[in-house]
Amino acid sequence: MSFEPSARIETVLQEERVFKPSSNVLGKYSISSFDQYQQLVDSAKSNPEKFWGDAALKELHWFKPFDIVLDWSNPPFARWFDGGKTNVSYNCLDRHVLNGLGDKIAIIWEGEPGEVRRITYKELLIEVCRTANALKSMGIKKGDLVALYMPMVPEAAIAMLACARIGAPHSVVFGGFSSEALRDRLNDGQAKAVITADGGFRKDKIISLKEAVDAALINNSCPTVKSVLIVKRTKTNIDFFPERDIWWHEIVPSQSIECLPEQMDSEDRLFVLYTSGSTGKPKGVVHSTSGYNLWAHLTFKWIFDVQKDEIYWCTADVGWITGHSYIVYGPLSNGATTVMYEGVPRPSNPGAFWEVIQKHKINIFYTAPTAIRAFMKSGRKIPDQYDLSSLRLLGTVGEPINPEAWMWYREIIGRNNCSIVDTWWQTETGGVMISPLPLATSTKPGSATFPLPGIQADVVNSQGETVQADQGGYLVIKKPWPGMMRTVHGDPKRFRETYWEYLEPIEGDLVYFAGDGARRDKDGYFWIMGRVDDVINVSGHRLGTMEIESALVSHDSVAEAAVVGKADEIKGESIVAFVTLETDNAPSEVLMNDLKKHVIKEIGVIAKPEEIRFTNSLPKTRSGKIMRRLLRSLASGEEVKGDISTLEDKNVLDELRK
Ligand code: PRX
Repeated sequence: MSFEPSARIETVLQEERVFKPSSNVLGKYSISSFDQYQQLVDSAKSNPEKFWGDAALKELHWFKPFDIVLDWSNPPFARWFDGGKTNVSYNCLDRHVLNGLGDKIAIIWEGEPGEVRRITYKELLIEVCRTANALKSMGIKKGDLVALYMPMVPEAAIAMLACARIGAPHSVVFGGFSSEALRDRLNDGQAKAVITADGGFRKDKIISLKEAVDAALINNSCPTVKSVLIVKRTKTNIDFFPERDIWWHEIVPSQSIECLPEQMDSEDRLFVLYTSGSTGKPKGVVHSTSGYNLWAHLTFKWIFDVQKDEIYWCTADVGWITGHSYIVYGPLSNGATTVMYEGVPRPSNPGAFWEVIQKHKINIFYTAPTAIRAFMKSGRKIPDQYDLSSLRLLGTVGEPINPEAWMWYREIIGRNNCSIVDTWWQTETGGVMISPLPLATSTKPGSATFPLPGIQADVVNSQGETVQADQGGYLVIKKPWPGMMRTVHGDPKRFRETYWEYLEPIEGDLVYFAGDGARRDKDGYFWIMGRVDDVINVSGHRLGTMEIESALVSHDSVAEAAVVGKADEIKGESIVAFVTLETDNAPSEVLMNDLKKHVIKEIGVIAKPEEIRFTNSLPKTRSGKIMRRLLRSLASGEEVKGDISTLEDKNVLDELRK
C-alpha cells in the first residue's frame, strides 16, 4: 500500500470565525462546560482503566460484572470488559421498561407515503421478543450470522435487536447494494438467514429487495443461507420459495412475547458491517458486545444529550454504521425517542426533511453535509416554509463539511440558535471520536474540534512524529477505546496491516491509522481533510476505488481501469473512471452506458461512475503502478503538478489531456 498524502493534505483553510457553545438549552446535561470536558479528558488520560471501568459499570446493565477492563496484551486485538456478561437488547429495552419508561415512545417511524407508527419501549420489547423467538424457531442459534437487507422500516431495528437478544450477530447490507454485492457479503460472513422485505420505497419508486435476494441466492450460490424472512412492505408480487421463504406476518405475531436475553460475553460479536477499503474486497468490520454498546451509549449521551421529552432524528439508513450507532443502539440504550424516516428529499418533495422536523417537533437533527449542500443549492425558500423552531442541536457526519455549508446550516436551519456538531468517525471506530460538545466547545465552521474524552487522537508524519500546528499529516488514534473494531471478519492479518501497521509504532506502541488526513490549528482544533488512501467519499458513501475498478474490469470489453474522485459541489466527490479497452472494442456512448450499468449491477447505484474516459493507456510508474495522483489532476481539469519523473511513458499524459 502506498499513500500520496502530499497530493491531498496541502490545502490550509483559513477560518477565523468562532462560535460560543449554545445557551438555548434547559435541562441536565452530561457535559456542560469546557472545564468539565477537560476534567474528563484528564481523568481518562491519567487512569484509563478506571475511567472506562467506571463508565461501563455506570452506563450498562451487567448480568455479571467484568473481571478486567482492558486486555491489551496482544495488540491490536483488544479485549474489553472480559469476564462480564451482558445483552445489548436488554440495555436498549428491558432496563428502561423496568425503570418506568415502558410507555415512553422509543421509535417514531415516518413511512414514505405518510404513515406514522409510534412504538413504545414496552411494545418494542414485545416485538423484539417475538422476532427473537421466530428466529429461534427458524433454527437460528447463538453465534449464527443473520443478514439484513431491508428498507427503513421499524422491523429493521426490531430485527437487529432480536438478533442481539439471542446472540446472533447481524450483518446489515444497505438496500442500495446490488444482488452481487449482497451475495459476496452473505458468503464472506457465512450468513445462515436473510431478513428482507418484498420491496422498499425509494424516491417515488419501489426497489425490489426480495428479487435481489433471490438473485443473490440463485443456484445455491450462498449455501449457508437456509431461510429468508420477508416483511411485507410494498405489496409487490414476489416469487415465493416455500422451502426457504417465510413471511414475517405469518411467523412473528404468533410467537411468545417473552424471550430471555442471552447472557453474552463482552467480546462476543454483536455485528459485522462491511465497508470499503483500499484493496478490492470490502472488509467485514467486527464489533463486539459490551465495548460497542458502551461507546455508542456514551458518545450519544455526551454529544446529543437528549432530554426527557426531546425528539431526536438521524437521517442515515440502518445499512450504515451511523444508522447502527445513532438510530438504533445509541438512542435506545439511552432511553431516548429516535425517529426513523423511510423517505429522502427528492424533486417531488424537496422539503421532506423540514416537513418531518415540523411534524414531529424534532429537537436534535443529525444529517450529512451532502444533504446540506443540496439544500443550499435549492435555496432557503424551501426550509423557510416550515416551522423549525423546535430544533436545538444540529449534527453532521460522513464527510468534511465546508464552512459555507456549515454556516448555512447554522443560519437557515438553526436560525443562529443551535450549536453545530461536526462529528468525525468511521465504521471501524464504532462511534464518534472527534466532535464538539454542544455546551462545552466553541466551534469553528468546518472543524470537528476536539477528541472526545478517552480518545488520544494526533496528527503525525510518516515517522510517527506529531506535526506542527497547521501542518497536514495522518490522523491517528494512539490508545485503544471500547468501541474500536475488533478485527476484519475472517482476516485478522488484514486488520493488523491495514489499520495498525501502516505507520511505525510510536514510542513502542501500535497506533491506529484511520486513512484520513488532518491538521490541527494553533488552538488545537482538528480539521479533517479527507481520505489519503484509495477510498473516495461520494455523498457520504465510502467506496474503494479498487472495488469499482474490479467491477469495470469484469466487463468483457475492458482491459484496465483506474478510478479516481473528482471534487463535486454537492456530493463532495464524484467518480471518474479511466478505462482502456480490449482490442477489437471501440469507445462509444453505448459502451459507456453499458459500463455504468455494469458497475450498478456489480456493486449498486451508489458506485455508478459519473464520467467514463476511454484511453489507450494509463499513466504508470516503471514498476507498473498506476499514478492516480496524475489522474486525479486530469479528472479535475487541473494542471498536473509535482514529480512525474517516475512516469514510464510521458506521452500518456498528452493523450489523456486530449
Ligand atoms: O473520511 C472520513 C469520512 O468518512 C470516513 C468513514 O466512512 P464510514 O466508515 O462510511 O463512516 C461514515 C460515518 C461515520 C472517514 O474515514 N468522515 C466521516 N465523518 C467525517 C468524515 N470526514 C470529515 N468530517 C467528518 N465529520
